[in-house]
Amino acid sequence: MTEVRAATDADLDAIVAIHTAAFGRDTEATLVRRLVGAGRATVSLVAVDEDDTVLGHVLLSPVTIEEGDDGKALGLAPVAVHPDHQRQGIGHALIEEGIGACFVQDARAVFVLGSPAYYTTFGFGKASAHGLHDTYEGGNAFQVLPLTVDGLAGYRGRVDYAPEFAEGGL
Ligand SMILES: CC(C)(COP(=O)(O)OP(=O)(O)OC[C@H]1O[C@@H](n2cnc3c(N)ncnc32)[C@H](O)[C@@H]1OP(=O)(O)O)[C@@H](O)C(=O)NCCC(=O)NCCS
Repeated sequence: MTEVRAATDADLDAIVAIHTAAFGRDTEATLVRRLVGAGRATVSLVAVDEDDTVLGHVLLSPVTIEEGDDGKALGLAPVAVHPDHQRQGIGHALIEEGIGACFVQDARAVFVLGSPAYYTTFGFGKASAHGLHDTYEGGNAFQVLPLTVDGLAGYRGRVDYAPEFAEGGL
């Protein structure tokens, strides 16, 4: 039985190990350490088994928007599930709970760069349809989920992830 809960400082090493294993490199693991260290892990959730062993992790951090920025938009990245536990719905549970936690943070919108087929199931749609684009030339992979009826009102232009992304070569 998997449970999703808020990550604590004590989980950090296990979280780093999950990202390293899932991505097969340490870029995302280092990014997570930097975001946590900078206090920019607005939402950080772990999926754990019955022994409280960490199986997956999702992080959301503030993005800045070229026009209309009000500090209420978040970027979902990175998300990872240990390779031995993928395709069991853990990623889905993490993302769903992550979005739920954004409401608690009073966020207006969540951005993600990922597979449209996967993220459409959570309600994400093309950010370009709202005059918003990313810095990675993600095209249709750059998606947004408004959390309120006017979640995207006033937002326009380039969306930048937290500086730790660029510092880590992402
Ligand atoms: C992307 C990632 C987080 C998804 O985690 P996950 O736990 O495998 O995700 P889910 O199980 O919710 O869904 C993945 C697939 O498994 C399928 N699935 C879900 N439950 C399933 C089950 N019980 N049996 C079989 N398949 C299942 C889903 O339909 C989905 O299929 P699709 O994407 O081919 O349509 C994980 O694959 C990962 O860590 N990848 C490496 C890191 C990465 O690329 N992160 C994303 C970029 S930040």
